[in-house]
Amino acid sequence: MNVRHRGGWSVAALVAVVVAVALLGACAPSAPKGAKPGKAGGGGATSDMSVAAGKVYVAPGDLDEYYMFSSGGHSGQVYVYGLPSMRHISTIPVYSPYPATGYGFDDDSKAMLGYLTWGDVHHPSLSETGGDYDGRWLFVNDMNGRVARVDLRDFKTKQILGPVPNVSGNHGSAFVTPNTEYSMMASRFSIPLPKGTTTGTDKYATDYKGVLTAIKIDPKKVPGLVWLMPCGKSPHGVDVSPDGKWIIGSGKLQGVTTAFNFEKVQTAIRNKDYEGDEDGIPVLKYESIKDAEVPVGLGPLHTQFGPNGMAYTSLFVDSAIASWKLGTWELVDKVPMSYSIGHLAAAEGDTVNPDGKYLVGLNKLSHGRHLSVGPSQPESSQLVDISDEKMKLLSDTFTEPEPHYAQIIKADKIHTIEVYPKEDNHHPLAIWDVKDAGIARQGGKAVVKMIAVRTSFTPTEFTVNQGETVTVAVTNIEQTTDELHGFAILDYNINIVIDPGETKTVTFKAEKKGVFPFYCTNFCSALHQEMQGYMIVK
Ligand code: CUA
Repeated sequence: MNVRHRGGWSVAALVAVVVAVALLGACAPSAPKGAKPGKAGGGGATSDMSVAAGKVYVAPGDLDEYYMFSSGGHSGQVYVYGLPSMRHISTIPVYSPYPATGYGFDDDSKAMLGYLTWGDVHHPSLSETGGDYDGRWLFVNDMNGRVARVDLRDFKTKQILGPVPNVSGNHGSAFVTPNTEYSMMASRFSIPLPKGTTTGTDKYATDYKGVLTAIKIDPKKVPGLVWLMPCGKSPHGVDVSPDGKWIIGSGKLQGVTTAFNFEKVQTAIRNKDYEGDEDGIPVLKYESIKDAEVPVGLGPLHTQFGPNGMAYTSLFVDSAIASWKLGTWELVDKVPMSYSIGHLAAAEGDTVNPDGKYLVGLNKLSHGRHLSVGPSQPESSQLVDISDEKMKLLSDTFTEPEPHYAQIIKADKIHTIEVYPKEDNHHPLAIWDVKDAGIARQGGKAVVKMIAVRTSFTPTEFTVNQGETVTVAVTNIEQTTDELHGFAILDYNINIVIDPGETKTVTFKAEKKGVFPFYCTNFCSALHQEMQGYMIVK
């Protein structure tokens, strides 16, 4: 296993479970008719427009009430929004190089990405304490068997763990336990195990397996055993109610979602109330653990929760959200989604204390409800007001591929830093005084220690020999908010960004002879464009 990190995780346990995977024939709705610029493109239960506009309007200079972290799918990134405005505030690169922040170009982040320069991110998972989001970290999965940890002090990826053995297509991940002891990884594709075994698909039923892996975050406990719960056709989302009483299992090829009673599950385990086993893992008796089948509508996928026992289930086939009540199992309302909703995210909806107020539908298709941009259409998310029993659609938002799931956290739970304090910078190549800047030969390579500060690089030029290995270490000695500097060398595929108080290194072989300009890529002052110099390769 290949572990790259700056923190401390280890793989705690491997537990095999059978994962049923089925592909759903997508029921694509037809494109809206008569969509014109400036007009609503299709159906939708939009409430009174001025009321809806007032609910999502955040005045200039005012701040949003929530952060939403949305997975970026195969972009390998996480998108950060403010709610209720749904304004895109930031992009956090995780599994893919991102020139805008220099991620994947400097030595450290390049090593962290390893040989993979893409990832497929599905489920962001905020760290929790006592079942509530605590605003420390965000964990995200990658289909290539990895899990990453993003630090919410600086919104940067600090660790990528994996690929973890035998997880083939890490989709159902990176959900954390209520005190962030474990982050989970689950196979999407069953394969013969261990990885590298070449059994043919004629042995699929017996030899192809999925695994569930628990990544230990804080070594305190060991996981228990595993039981299987039967669920309707092609089970998709499994969501636990805020009070822990019910486990909601959605079989996406049926018209109901099943509420399993967790107490009954425990009793069935105690009484060994089984209806057989799969690969030695006992299967609990459906009738013994089920409390209700709720007739939510066609294609139930995922359930989120609000206060007062409200539950919200996304319906892929119906292209709608159903709201219903835990315990009484009555259907309350339905609101259409445009189009083909997958996941949905409620404000603080995965915690023991959901906020209600807002629900975001993450739709699979946007179908022209936006200015046309050619065949590659943006992804669509819709903001729904759930403060009353009657749900109201408030706004449409579009973004790049390919959000899948999101989590929404109260903004005041996140405490960011704005600069890296000088005294916390222990980088061995950091310098703070221009008299220490310059080039030296160390261990057979050229090491350039450079200072970046408004509005120059010191040294402004350096000379190396063709074929020499060069490390440039740039320290941004600014201690002022938003004073970033970039360092790019033309024709050398080098582009790093250094935040205030940071030191970053980039190592390369000076293969091409000539004079190569370097310059600051990140706007820093009126003299930003003058912040430049030359690398001479002799
Ligand atoms: Cu430094 Cu632009």
